[in-house]
Amino acid sequence: MKDNSTLLVTGGAGFIGSNFIIYWLNKYPESKIINLDSLTYAGNLSSLKTVEDNPNYTFIEGNITNSELVDKIMDDVDVVVHFAAESHVDRSILDPGIFLETNVLGTHVLLASALKNKIDRFHHISTDEVFGSLELGNPNSKFSESTAYDPRSPYSASKASSDHLVRAYGETYGLNYTITNCSNNYGELQYPEKFIPLAITNLMEGKKIPVYGDGLQVRDWLYVQDHCDAIDRVLHSDKSQETYVVGGLTKEVPNIEIVKMIVEIMGKDETQIEYVKDRAGHDRRYSVDWSKINKELGWKPTVSFEEGLKKTIEWYQLNQEWWKPLKIDSKDFFAKNYD
Ligand code: NAD
Ligand code: DAU
Repeated sequence: MKDNSTLLVTGGAGFIGSNFIIYWLNKYPESKIINLDSLTYAGNLSSLKTVEDNPNYTFIEGNITNSELVDKIMDDVDVVVHFAAESHVDRSILDPGIFLETNVLGTHVLLASALKNKIDRFHHISTDEVFGSLELGNPNSKFSESTAYDPRSPYSASKASSDHLVRAYGETYGLNYTITNCSNNYGELQYPEKFIPLAITNLMEGKKIPVYGDGLQVRDWLYVQDHCDAIDRVLHSDKSQETYVVGGLTKEVPNIEIVKMIVEIMGKDETQIEYVKDRAGHDRRYSVDWSKINKELGWKPTVSFEEGLKKTIEWYQLNQEWWKPLKIDSKDFFAKNYD
């Protein structure tokens, strides 16, 4: 792709989308970004203050399911980078319908419009959760590009459907697409409903950290800046109709060990940790084999979990005005989820 391309970024007011927009405009100041976001509870324009006056950045408040609006915007676009989604597993358990609307139907609207407008590349951001759950205790079993799909929550089922639709548009109509299935991102600007920012902000508020079930579940933690670099490499490669799985630089750390690390770094004590009712259908373990993107595009994660966690804690300590209102906005969800 050319460095002065116009990108349509969907969901750019969310966690990864806003990190990506800031990263991209810093690195490619000649490119243009249109950010289409409907500003759900998870969309936050205050995350984008550093770019809002950039003449190469345009924000459009709108829904990806609105085909008329999407068609109008797509006219000037070279590349689509599709982040917009309902992204929280616990919310999908309480209310799955909106996950199908946004993640499945919304992706379809974007694909149809991208095809009609002959865009150069459709890059779809997906998740390792489409592959289901790995057993604990077998460090050699990992997700790769050839792992069979086996989604187990309404969220992951909706993301799996969207991946299938993207590939169907590639195979059937020749749409030029790429997909990345990445593991759990963490870092600055993440909504404080997700495990790591929830733990950090609860401690700062003097509340307990809720650990689901036995706390032995394992995730593959990816620092969000490393994820932005992976997307950059995929967009700049001439690959098409390709999928890459993307994961972090992490030993297998169970959830309970993560909260103990957070408690220690923040100088609190372990009485702040509370075991609570398990998540329904809770996936046991995720682990990603990122050797394909490493071999083909030279990408590898660079930030260790210890380093990334310290940076993340520091960011939440310094940016209380960013997350405090969000915890208040979501108090009904928290009450329902942790009843
Ligand atoms: P997020 O929930 O923080 O942000 C989602 C953004 O999409 C918000 O700004 C929201 O307003 C917007 N949005 C939601 N519905 C919309 C709609 N109908 N129309 C327009 N905008 C809409 O999500 P995130 O954590 O930044 O995740 C971004 C993408 O990455 C998602 O597709 C998610 O499935 C995927 N992903 C996330 C992770 C992770 O760990 N966070 C890991 C793997 C994949
Ligand atoms: O793997 C990629 C996925 O990672 C993304 O596709 C999703 O969008 C993203 O939300 C994330 O899903 P998880 O369910 O893995 O992330 P979450 O932060 O919700 O939970 C991480 C782990 O922590 C998981 O094992 C559940 C556990 N947990 C979570 C919360 C919110 C707790 O023990 N207590 C909690 O309160």
